[in-house]
Amino acid sequence: MTTLEGIFAKPRLAQRDLARLLALDDPAELQQLYAAAYAVKVRELGKVVHLRGLIEVSNLCVRNCLYCGIRRGHATVERYTIPEDEVLAAAAWVWQEGLGSVVLQSGERTDEAFLAYVERLLGGMRDLSQAGLGVTLSLGEQTEATYRRWRRAGAHRYLLRLETANPEIFAAIHPPGQNLASRLACLASLRRCGYQVGTGVMIGLPGQTARDLARDVLMMRDLDVDMVGMGPFIPCAQTPLADSLGDFDARRAAQLELGLKMIACVRLVMPDINIAASTALQALAPDGRERGLLAGANILMPNVTDPRYRRGYQLYDGKPGLDETSRESRDRLAAAVARAGERVALAERGDSLRFRRRGA
Ligand code: 5AD
Repeated sequence: MTTLEGIFAKPRLAQRDLARLLALDDPAELQQLYAAAYAVKVRELGKVVHLRGLIEVSNLCVRNCLYCGIRRGHATVERYTIPEDEVLAAAAWVWQEGLGSVVLQSGERTDEAFLAYVERLLGGMRDLSQAGLGVTLSLGEQTEATYRRWRRAGAHRYLLRLETANPEIFAAIHPPGQNLASRLACLASLRRCGYQVGTGVMIGLPGQTARDLARDVLMMRDLDVDMVGMGPFIPCAQTPLADSLGDFDARRAAQLELGLKMIACVRLVMPDINIAASTALQALAPDGRERGLLAGANILMPNVTDPRYRRGYQLYDGKPGLDETSRESRDRLAAAVARAGERVALAERGDSLRFRRRGA
């Protein structure tokens, strides 16, 4: 069998190589994997982390994804949409503090009122920062016309997860009518509109194997995305998948490890993209996100949503930071960055190096 060093040295990893890395469980070998991916990250991007201030602007959603805490059918969730002036105040804070970029995330809606709300927010953010603030949208599947409209209004990046490259698993966790093909079509539209394009998957879904995850990595590579945001699946009470992993507490450590292994594999395969260490990692261990950095991630997303809305955006159980202010959220992440021996880049947008190279 090829040694791990032999795999790391390959110019192009095959599905079986990735499946082998994703199945590692010996602590020394895991450390080797994380160290190899971290070395790639440091070589390409330096010991630098960029921040994105995350604003969860609304939890209204027309979708009914079986895993998600803000699915349409989750009746006990109190629904909210943050008024424009409040969103812009949060964005202004991000800009003044030098975080460089904002992410607007919400449940999925395609009605004109929502499209226009987002468009006005984009205009407002452009004005308050003299077009300096980087803006990522994470607002689900939309028409190409809508993606173009928001791009023109000032959005630079768009994150749309494909969730899983395995069509059977995709079908098992979504209601009929949602499919992988339309996610892929959206990603192609986003590329045509000139966005920095990001995608991602959920890690450790019921029935998902190391081979499936290897396939996810290869699909992201083949899509040649600029950014990846992915995280472990964490069951959410009162959703159809609430009990789908059995005793979840017994699996937390393994689920975190799987998330870290995926970050490392994506970094090995795509050296110059932006990879976020997701909040879901921190939900599984207090130091989850810094471990994400040391496995190859280079982006952290402090939540700057006003605490009074946060209870409404529980995509999964135990989402951390419920009562945290923007400042606390930012300071905690900055401390995690320092513990990881890295530094936070301030007053920079932190655009994907992959994207910049492609344009060059
Ligand atoms: N566990 C982990 N991630 C989840 N998401 C939604 N529900 C969960 C969950 N229970 C992720 C999905 C979605 C993103 C907004 O949040 O990947 O695309």
